Amino acid sequence: MKSVVVVGAQWGDEGKGKVVDYMAGSFDYIARCAGGHNAGHTVIFDGKKFVLQLIPCGILRPKQQAVIGTGVVVDPAALVSEIETLAKAGISVEGRLHVSNRAHLIFPYHRELDKAAETARGENKIGTTSRGIGPAYEDKMARRGLRVCDLLDPQGFREKAQRVIAEKTAIAQGTYGASVDFSGAIEETLRLGEKIRGYIGDASELLNSALDKGKSVLFEGAQGTMLDIDHGTYPYVTSSSAIAGGATTGLGVAPTRIKGVLNVSKAYTTRVGGGPFPTEMPELEAQEVRDRGKEYGAVTGRPRRCGWLDMVVLRYAKMINGMDSLVITKLDVFDTQKEIQVCTGYKYKGSIIREMPPSAEELAKVTPDYKTLPGWCASTYGAKDAKSLPKAAVEYLKFIEDFLQVEIGMISTGPERDATIIPAGTLFASWL
Ligand code: GDP
Ligand code: IMO
Ligand code: MG
Repeated sequence: MKSVVVVGAQWGDEGKGKVVDYMAGSFDYIARCAGGHNAGHTVIFDGKKFVLQLIPCGILRPKQQAVIGTGVVVDPAALVSEIETLAKAGISVEGRLHVSNRAHLIFPYHRELDKAAETARGENKIGTTSRGIGPAYEDKMARRGLRVCDLLDPQGFREKAQRVIAEKTAIAQGTYGASVDFSGAIEETLRLGEKIRGYIGDASELLNSALDKGKSVLFEGAQGTMLDIDHGTYPYVTSSSAIAGGATTGLGVAPTRIKGVLNVSKAYTTRVGGGPFPTEMPELEAQEVRDRGKEYGAVTGRPRRCGWLDMVVLRYAKMINGMDSLVITKLDVFDTQKEIQVCTGYKYKGSIIREMPPSAEELAKVTPDYKTLPGWCASTYGAKDAKSLPKAAVEYLKFIEDFLQVEIGMISTGPERDATIIPAGTLFASWL
């Protein structure tokens, strides 16, 4: 049984899209377990670029099956638009896309409430993607959400939706003073629902019976460990389970059926939106990394905040997710750095801590304890062979492996599919 979870070890945008695309050729099913179209997973091959938001990256491979799981929140408009974009690029999802009938829906009122809540937070705003993600998960947890299966019964859907819309309109107007009209949302959602009707099914039955038949499954995480609702830098997080465990709750596959956990980290760190970020670089240094790494949000186009690699974060990710293997992406972005800082602990109240503080306020007060490593000042861009890497780059990677006591199974040296190094003899290599 081959079943591997790919999870972001930092604050998202680690390059999960590239990694999942690379691995997808060796798996039968690729399944998304959490988040929504706040995710932006970039895949580049044969000179073509795709940014996938809801549909797992495996759809770009010719024969793979793609599953949108129960833990995902689905905006029907975003899903239909993504299907159409893929069709224009010559990629058909027919017979290969499966949408969980238990997944919750995002409505236009979730987007409006997301924006209104952010405005109300003022300086403390989270910096959400304004896609309605948080309000949709709120409704799910409050047990008043509408789900994909509801689309299959239009009359029942209308009745449920009318009750929710009356409540949402009152909240938007009364609490936030927003002038809103959600009256068109029901019929518009039903119209879009007809377009996705053919893809709706039981995702857990599908995946479990695939595993029973010896098929392989790759679980595509979205966001990252530090954005997880329970274990991230709360409240500056997203509203879903972005950790490896999210694969079991989000897809209804037992923990014992998942045989491997792969974490993805950049050679440095980025974060989009608000919240504490201990290793954030001063703007001048950040600018160089942002320019070289093209660090602008795949979904919102926002400049990403840039910082040094934080081993406190990676140690925490190893504990929370499990880390059978680690991928380091964007090594090439450091090709011009003379020296590289790595944070090995946090200075806090006169001592060094290596555990993640629970509150955003505390995390904002820590100072990184840096170790300085030499840069390599040579090009690694596009490298495909570990032997071609400069000595200092090898030492940087070795430092990460030794600190975490984890193998590095894949090194990414450029955005394209083939700008990839797979060291021999690793557990990761056995998954391909
Ligand atoms: P995801 O959300 O984790 O899938 O990551 P994103 O797609 O949002 O952001 C990663 C960005 O880095 C994308 O623009 C990728 O094309 C790009 N990328 C991925 N790996 C590499 C790499 O090794 N080097 C460089 N220079 N860019 C990379
Ligand atoms: P991928 O899958 C990076 C961030 C937002 C914001 C916070 C909450 O591409 O790695 P939300 O709209 O989810 O309520 O926003 O989470 N965020 C991400 N940052 N990558 C992502 O996804 C993200 N998804 C959400 O910027 O700070
Ligand atoms: Mg992204």
